[in-house]
Amino acid sequence: MSFTKDIVFGFPILKTSIDPKSYNKKKVISTIKKNYKIDQNRNNWDGRSNLHHGHNDFNNPKFHKINFDELFEVYKKALSEMFESFSYTGKTKINFGIINYSCLGKTQYMDTHLHSGNDFNAIHYIQFDEKNHTGTQLESSQAHSKFAHNLRPNLVKKLDNTKSENSWMFDDWTFDTKEDDLIVMPCFVRHRIPKQNFNKTHRITIALDINLE
Ligand SMILES: [Fe+2]
Repeated sequence: MSFTKDIVFGFPILKTSIDPKSYNKKKVISTIKKNYKIDQNRNNWDGRSNLHHGHNDFNNPKFHKINFDELFEVYKKALSEMFESFSYTGKTKINFGIINYSCLGKTQYMDTHLHSGNDFNAIHYIQFDEKNHTGTQLESSQAHSKFAHNLRPNLVKKLDNTKSENSWMFDDWTFDTKEDDLIVMPCFVRHRIPKQNFNKTHRITIALDINLE
């Protein structure tokens, strides 16, 4: 017997690994760390979260400018390959920008948000200790996810919660993340950085917004 299995209304999440030798990784991280030392809670965004990030504040003369030129070229190549995995109705061009970086120490977090006004967004984990740092938590926007545990508790127990194909039954999902991963998601995926519990190294990421033309 042959059969098919499609995921309908599921979010495509793309992941690749960026070669750490393909750009000035040490310099980018050291500039971010210098900025972190200037103000651990650089947050010109929501007034609630506790983290250091550059959104809405890139032109603040108090902080060092980060040279993203090499990374931009690396992302250009990676994204053009990753976006070949979608089916399009015609010729399609990818536009993107580096819109933020974040650096978090112990107890720091970024509240739930989405990158509205764009088609996709991406996160590059340039310093990430997979044993001690916590990955980005993606939140389900499907209405049933809030009460699925109460309505069908047995089903929730039966489904292997380590397989992303079962994520439709869960309220949130954390991808296995390694340093140098680049994860792309549609802009409609709400996400957050949970409170970090590790002090030895900082969790550092770069964020991109992506639009198709
Ligand atoms: Fe984000």
